[in-house]
Amino acid sequence: LDNGVMRTPPMGWLAWERFRCDIDCKNDPKNCISENLFIDMADRLSEDGWRELGYVYVNIDDCWSSMERDENGRLQADPKRFPGGIPKLSRYLHDRGLKLGIYGDMGTHTCGGYPGTTLDKIETDAQTFADWEVDMFKFDGCYSNATEQEKGYPLMSKALNATGRPIGYSCSWPAYQGGLPPMVNYTQLGEICNLWRNYGDIQDSWDSVLNIIEWFFRNQDVLIPAAGPGRWNDPDMLVIGDFGLSKDQSRSQMALWAIMAAPLFMSNDLRTISSEARSILQNKMVISINQDPMGIQGRRIVKEKSDIEVFWRPLSSDASALVFFSRRTDMPYRYQTSLSKLNYTTGSYKIYDVFTDKTMILKDSTNFVVSVNPTGVVMWYVSAPSKLNRLQFYRGGNV
Ligand code: GLA
Repeated sequence: LDNGVMRTPPMGWLAWERFRCDIDCKNDPKNCISENLFIDMADRLSEDGWRELGYVYVNIDDCWSSMERDENGRLQADPKRFPGGIPKLSRYLHDRGLKLGIYGDMGTHTCGGYPGTTLDKIETDAQTFADWEVDMFKFDGCYSNATEQEKGYPLMSKALNATGRPIGYSCSWPAYQGGLPPMVNYTQLGEICNLWRNYGDIQDSWDSVLNIIEWFFRNQDVLIPAAGPGRWNDPDMLVIGDFGLSKDQSRSQMALWAIMAAPLFMSNDLRTISSEARSILQNKMVISINQDPMGIQGRRIVKEKSDIEVFWRPLSSDASALVFFSRRTDMPYRYQTSLSKLNYTTGSYKIYDVFTDKTMILKDSTNFVVSVNPTGVVMWYVSAPSKLNRLQFYRGGNV
């Protein structure tokens, strides 16, 4: 969607996977869906180095609203859990250089049973979000049929545009229609939405992450052309820093979300996150690969019988990213290949290992071995060596 926002994949924090529909503020005040939770996360984003890296969205998901619309038919926040209303939150975030996202549902109810946005309410709700100075809107699709969705998702895009406020628009539409043509029209989605959920909900487990990876790369030929600046496939939230992923699995999620040019919405508890998870999420090189301005989604280029897979994404300045991924569950696997086998054929390349910070120069024809941990990755940023380095290389030097 050409509305000026999200020219690179959006980054931030989203409540759903980690905090769900916990509305029990009496017994669980620290974790319930309330303004305090979003204020806490905003404080962490602005004080713990996240904002400077690009993590600027703080997104409310389901279960924020009151069970009833107000006397003017407008959505309203639950008065007990959001005593200052949504405008107070958006002011709090904007004062700190952050942005606010909110959630609604095309249908009679949200997936959690809160008031939905039926076709007749679309303009009202778009205007309400603009009045509240919201920056992003996720439009879910529970409790509506295909015909209503076909009308509702484009209508909401128009209604948001008509408010005059640039609001990033996340459409769950394809996830409700199987994610593939002919039911899903990716040309149209790119024209009306900034991002879209194609597939089922992520859960806090490696099983779930692997299932999502499998679906997105199995269908890469359909999905890759759909993505570009302002329009992104969304494989769902990052669950790094929660309970289900090991260190290697966390690196795998981060690396493959970067290859996919996926939105990076963490759903975790930034107040208690481990330094290990934080350093993966704050890895500058992975983030810059994810945020590459060309916005070309990467692909799986090799699927070995040994259960090693190789992924590749073209990047600006004639650079690229490579990910060696192991689906094995035995021990670190010594995978042997060469750059020319991976379609690099113009001489020597400079390799930067994203997770170990090591660099080397590699000739396209040279065989090399990478050791890939079970369910883990090795990720490389690959660029042509600079002239200086090239000279050193021909003299037999090393970087
Ligand atoms: C659906 C969405 C999730 C989340 C929940 C909220 O399942 O796919 O991302 O928004 O609804 O109820």
